[in-house]
Amino acid sequence: MPTNANAEAAWNYHEVTKHSYTSVRTNPHFLDFRNQPLPFKIYPALEPSRMPTEVRQTGVAALSAIAASVPAQTNAAPDLEAVAQLLYLSAGITRQRKYSGGEIYFRAAACTGALYEVDLYLICRELANLEAGVYHFAPAEFGLRRLRAGDYRSVLVEATGSEPAIVHAPLTIVCTCTYWRNAWKYQARTYRHFGWDNGTMLANLLAVATALGLPAKVVCGFVDATVNRLLDVDSGREVAFSLVAIGHDSGLFAQTAPPAQTTPRTLAEISPLGFETVPLSRDEVDYPLMREMHAASALDSAEEVAAWRGRTRLGSTEIPDFPPPAGPVVRLQPLSDAEMPRDPIEQVILRRGSSRRFARTPISLAQLSTLLDRATRGVPADFLVPMGSQLNHLTLIVHAVEGLDSGAYVFHRDRGVLECLKHGNFRDQAGYLGLEQQLPADAAVDIFFLADLRPIFDRFGNRGYRAVQLEAGILAGKLYLAAYAQRLGATGLTFYDDDVTRFFSPHAEGKSATLLVAVGHGVKRRRLEPE
Ligand SMILES: Cc1cc2nc3c(=O)[nH]c(=O)nc-3n(C[C@H](O)[C@H](O)[C@H](O)COP(=O)(O)O)c2cc1C
Repeated sequence: MPTNANAEAAWNYHEVTKHSYTSVRTNPHFLDFRNQPLPFKIYPALEPSRMPTEVRQTGVAALSAIAASVPAQTNAAPDLEAVAQLLYLSAGITRQRKYSGGEIYFRAAACTGALYEVDLYLICRELANLEAGVYHFAPAEFGLRRLRAGDYRSVLVEATGSEPAIVHAPLTIVCTCTYWRNAWKYQARTYRHFGWDNGTMLANLLAVATALGLPAKVVCGFVDATVNRLLDVDSGREVAFSLVAIGHDSGLFAQTAPPAQTTPRTLAEISPLGFETVPLSRDEVDYPLMREMHAASALDSAEEVAAWRGRTRLGSTEIPDFPPPAGPVVRLQPLSDAEMPRDPIEQVILRRGSSRRFARTPISLAQLSTLLDRATRGVPADFLVPMGSQLNHLTLIVHAVEGLDSGAYVFHRDRGVLECLKHGNFRDQAGYLGLEQQLPADAAVDIFFLADLRPIFDRFGNRGYRAVQLEAGILAGKLYLAAYAQRLGATGLTFYDDDVTRFFSPHAEGKSATLLVAVGHGVKRRRLEPE
């Protein structure tokens, strides 16, 4: 089995799952609606305990919440109400709609195909109104099912090689992804979607944590087998993908764990649970390529984890960035704190819904600038060190932004400028690049994410692929929120991989397309069927 350091598996996965004009036309796959997977994990034998649905409003402006984070050492612990708020606003059901094939339960964060393959689990010490335990979040009942009683945080401390945020966190949320729930539609490309769909959820979670005054940190470095065993997931079907440490206890972990609740630390000591779960559908199709990709990016020991995380340093530069602008630049003009819309994070999350149609009317340069500025101020994560490091870079096709000529641009985050690569009306090309959909052709601006995978794989091995896709999802989630905070619309989109690179070349030569977000004026906010 290949080890994480040999990134051949990630290169192979990436190449094989590229979309192209030919690949989408030669793929015989069709959607078998009689075999559509359930969008929920259900433990029939475990009764969920309901969480409070009436929660306090923080009133914190969404554009502030997405741009900031609470300093890591701030002592704070969530109570049950805060837990409910974090879960509802990141993974809760916010709307439902009937359609010809049944009913869709839309969630707080955008998700490819509305298939919702990400589940959340809590590992916590005793919190106000919540006993210590390992819990599964059940969005349908808005409740928690307790899988284990007692304080199991020491297992996570061990699994993360004593990652400081995990050591001090009263609560860690583990995000898992279930292959079949998304692969039913997207086949082997689903592994990319794990990062995207987990990421949009994390954008909400991080923003809400900030609004609640809780430090939060995304952790991608952990011993996979230990975390999967703690949750007792069937790792051939469902896998832990990311952890989020929430809150901070300045006392050392060992001092805060009640002695009566000392728990196992090693893999062998964690007993299986064997809880029954409801089958997702009649049959499941296995896509071994994804399991291979996941296994090849596994970390096997606390020592390997400790060596994996840390400074993002890629190649010779500390924070990788595009070379300085070589062409004409336009300075961004973001709104100041005093000028920006102050719609609270809770309202903006509930208002959000992927635009299904854009009007071809312009947005302002101030809106675009605010969007880019606020969404890219840094993500607290164990692979983005120092804070502010970024693996993905944003390139734009501008169609209708007042004060900006139509054309292709690169966003130089460090300089606060857009560099023009070429002028022109590229609506048709953008529609083509976005898998021949109308949305990117009609948007005011299409934001393409590009990543130079070579130095990322050199630094992080196969697991760098998880990290780069997850970061793309988080940035996409922040762009969504920044758009809706300004009463604009947005949608994530998929794309023709190599055509995107070609369009932005020579600038993009050697880089890979990782995601696309279209922004503009949505024609109506009503949610229709997924794409
Ligand atoms: C990463 C990502 C890619 C997406 N790709 C497409 C797409 O190619 N076409 C489309 O119409 N919608 C796309 N969507 C939108 C989803 O269909 C939408 O999020 C889902 O139906 C849930 O609806 P909501 O976002 O309104 O809550 C994408 C969403 C995400 C997060």
